Amino acid sequence: MKRTCMATSLTTADVGATVVLNGWVDTRRDHGGLIFIDLRDRSGIIQVVLSPDTAKDAFKLAEQVRSEYVVAVRGEVRLRPAETENPNLETGKIEVYAEQMEVLNSSKTPPFYIEDNIDVDETLRLKYRYLDLRRPEMQKNLMFRHRIIKSMRDCLDEQGFIEIETPILTSSTPEGARDYLVPSRVHPGEFFALPQSPQLFKQLLMVAGMEKYFQIARCFRDEDLRADRQPEFTQLDMEMSFIDEDDIITLVENMVRRVILEATGREIPGPFPRLSYDEAMSRYGSDKPDLRFDLPIVDLTEQLRGVEFKVFASAIEGGGVVRAINAKGCASFPRREIDDLGKLAVEFGAKGMAWIVVAEDELKSPITKFLTEEQVAGILKQLEAQPGDLLIFGADQTKIVERVLGMLRLELAKRLNLVEKDHLAFTWVVDFPLLEYDDEEKRWVAMHHPFTSAREEDLAVMEQEPGAVKARAYDLVLNGTEIGGGSIRIHRKEIQERMFGLLGHTPEDAREKFGFMLDAFEYGTPPHGGFAFGIDRMVMILAGRNSIRDVIAFPKTQSASCLLMSAPSEVSPKQLRELAIKIREK
Ligand code: AMO
Ligand code: AMP
Repeated sequence: MKRTCMATSLTTADVGATVVLNGWVDTRRDHGGLIFIDLRDRSGIIQVVLSPDTAKDAFKLAEQVRSEYVVAVRGEVRLRPAETENPNLETGKIEVYAEQMEVLNSSKTPPFYIEDNIDVDETLRLKYRYLDLRRPEMQKNLMFRHRIIKSMRDCLDEQGFIEIETPILTSSTPEGARDYLVPSRVHPGEFFALPQSPQLFKQLLMVAGMEKYFQIARCFRDEDLRADRQPEFTQLDMEMSFIDEDDIITLVENMVRRVILEATGREIPGPFPRLSYDEAMSRYGSDKPDLRFDLPIVDLTEQLRGVEFKVFASAIEGGGVVRAINAKGCASFPRREIDDLGKLAVEFGAKGMAWIVVAEDELKSPITKFLTEEQVAGILKQLEAQPGDLLIFGADQTKIVERVLGMLRLELAKRLNLVEKDHLAFTWVVDFPLLEYDDEEKRWVAMHHPFTSAREEDLAVMEQEPGAVKARAYDLVLNGTEIGGGSIRIHRKEIQERMFGLLGHTPEDAREKFGFMLDAFEYGTPPHGGFAFGIDRMVMILAGRNSIRDVIAFPKTQSASCLLMSAPSEVSPKQLRELAIKIREK
């Protein structure tokens, strides 16, 4: 009984046809005289009816099957009597009246229901991932992911990009996370690293004259995991020669809009807004601002220079800032809720959270008594405060205030329900600093990666003012998540050497780690640049999920293990001996 059609390919136009369906028993209802089976395949569900009068053998089998049995059914497509139509099913107007049935396999009772919106612990879902993936919403997620990737491939293929695979067994690529290492048997004591990204290879492909490269690339990073991070994840990685920032931004933007149109039918207006890093940080307190709502952070430092209020005065005198958010309409927050926000501010790193409630005819605040009337009036004006508003303040070093108010901004948006469902807010963040100072390592580190070029006009002062140098880098942000990033690269050897120097590598050290790259730069390296999308993150947001694990077939847990395969796992003493590895006691 070979399948002739999929469950939901059948419509009222097929009434009268004899079909063969293959699939799983979703549910079985025994009405004594008749048995109803909801038969599920990848396309969806259709009702099968079995009667002892017309199909005795099939009916007998149907008495024994249970959920998740695999069956084949031959029968006639019929219209359902009007009163038994099911508007919740795509195929709710029809049913298949069985003539013959075969049980292809039985099933134990699954540990959870094979249906959407189940409330079970994720560890159980991950252990039985093959059952979890049988649930319609998960099947939809993976099909959606496929469509997005297919559309990306088509789009780049049409524009002359070629897909090239780069090695998985390689040596360390500096993207800032810890490497996953693979011991070499042939070279005892030596290790491969799994790529954190194909960064060096894609640049070498530009040296090799490939001009337009892309790859759906698996990347590996041993870092702390969160809802939008996995130790192995997939990038759409690309690189081009003879281009500038605008070419890449335009290309990526057009591709994103087209991919979304093809995969979801939605038209996203372009061009996407572009924010400088400095603007993003000062106005939204984040380099990946969520622009589904505004709720800006306003700077009051100049205005408040010289105030008596100690908290503000000492922040400003110490070179810091005073900034504030006008939480529109939040004057009605009970005191408890304001204190609650204050506690959050402290959790985010603040020393406190000053506030002013702008009531109808008075101000309530623990700080107005320390300020003059003009100062208060100035603050209200600057924040465009109206009766009904709540103003919250951060005073400290710039970095701390940005972080605290940035987080409070997100928290307020949540509490005020400012996020419209299905809203997609894209933005580019540009003009990143090239370097940032790492207080722990006591040295400059690359904000993007060491191969990113500085702006032409900053090259001369790289060594004198490393903190002021801007990079030719750009990030794409969607709803407050960084979904991609890239840059124009360094393509001249002397500049790459200077960059390594700034990062604290001695020439010998740079030679040892990146000699192949420096050598390559001596053989006619074209100017080039590129971009990489976090495909999992993008699909997660477009599919309306909160975790990237929901759009990856076999993800790892938050503690970087695979519950299905029990990986990682111990290996045999023989394997270790072959690798010349000895495990120290755990
Ligand atoms: P970057 O490190 O910014 O750039 O990575 C590009 C994008 O990959 C996604 N991403 C992740 N997704 C899931 N889990 C993770 N652990 C994870 N880490 C990163 C993010 C991010 O924006 N070689 C450069 C690109 C370039 O310069 O061309 C790179 O890898 O969405
Ligand atoms: P204090 O005089 O320390 O009691 O602080 C007065 C008000 O200022 C309280 O509401 C504190 O929460 C708030 N506050 C203290 N430190 C800061 C800070 N660094 N930034 C913003 N507000 C603060």
